[in-house]
Amino acid sequence: MMKVPAAKIQFLPEDRQWIADRIQEVLESGQLTLGKYGKEFEQAFAKFCGVKHAIAVNSGTSSIEIILRAIAGPHGQGLAGKKVVVPANTFFATAAAVVHAGGVPVFADMDAETFALSPETVEAVLTPDVAGIVTVHIGGLVSARMPELVALAEAKGLWLVEDAAHAHGSSLGAVKAGAFGVAGSFSFYPTKVMTSGEGGMIVTNDDRIAEEALIYRDQGKKSFYENAHVRLGYNWRMSEPHAIIGLRHLARLPAMIADRQAVAAIYDEELKGFENIRPLRVPEGGVCNYYKYIAVLDGGRDRKALKGILREKYGVALSGEVYEEPLHKQPVFQQYAAGALPAAEDLCARHVCLPVFSGMTEADARLVLEALADTVG
Ligand SMILES: Cc1ncc(COP(=O)(O)O)c(C=O)c1O
Repeated sequence: MMKVPAAKIQFLPEDRQWIADRIQEVLESGQLTLGKYGKEFEQAFAKFCGVKHAIAVNSGTSSIEIILRAIAGPHGQGLAGKKVVVPANTFFATAAAVVHAGGVPVFADMDAETFALSPETVEAVLTPDVAGIVTVHIGGLVSARMPELVALAEAKGLWLVEDAAHAHGSSLGAVKAGAFGVAGSFSFYPTKVMTSGEGGMIVTNDDRIAEEALIYRDQGKKSFYENAHVRLGYNWRMSEPHAIIGLRHLARLPAMIADRQAVAAIYDEELKGFENIRPLRVPEGGVCNYYKYIAVLDGGRDRKALKGILREKYGVALSGEVYEEPLHKQPVFQQYAAGALPAAEDLCARHVCLPVFSGMTEADARLVLEALADTVG
């Protein structure tokens, strides 16, 4: 029997009621998309991230693509063959969005301490035809080297976008994830720290990108009331029921993050005594939402077998990796692969993600640790 699941979505009874009441309201009014709850969600999310604009869309995949299209030019031509540096150890959608926007992904290696891009791993793949960088805050951890990456992009005349799909509420210093680059993209897929069912959000301080994003998400229409299609947009809209769910989960986000941080603090403390497993550390001045609690196993351990034993013998489910296989090894991206990326190949194969979710108890965390002490030590 499973004692500790890998993850769990939490909607408290009062939140379910709050959501149901408002869904009743929009069902009655018939205003089921692009209505007042979408706007309210956008305003609350912009405030939460400390940015000027937030634009709600139907996924974290479309939010990346819209940002890339909006940046790329005023006539909807997309990236038009330009290269964009992305980490090899990210979700499929980060690189796929580059391709869908007309660009060419260039895979960069990861930094072993943070699982993020570093100035060195980016510089190693820079060529004159690179237009920009999409960095990803893996597991919700904002790298201590983020300001250096921002400076590198500035110095080289590149734009920097954050795929902050994992990082709602994470920060470094006074800057929240999503607010470092020209724009940030969030996902509200149900596995994330907060969800709207399905959904995504673009955040930016750039008025032009915000304006373009509004056009792109609604079929490239000049405005809601005009049928002039001025961009090659799509149906990337967020519905009102999704916005209502997201709005409520956003209100709960600080408490849900606090729950995750409490579990992480127990892991941090206890894993100091383990020799064969090394957790990632949050940098000084950083706040992590712990979308994932990432730890690296020493070499030569069979992760699949370990996961099986933890599940079968101890009732502990580890969550999905971030990521199991780097993107330059994925069949669909073979044409963009350009040689070995040693850190990504090594660490994608050798890390685990310990269970962490809001509502998880200290007893759950101790059970995970006991199982790990028996199996990994
Ligand atoms: C890093 C990253 N980018 C993009 C996405 C895509 O988000 P969505 O599933 O909302 O399209 C996800 C998650 O699913 C993700 O983890």
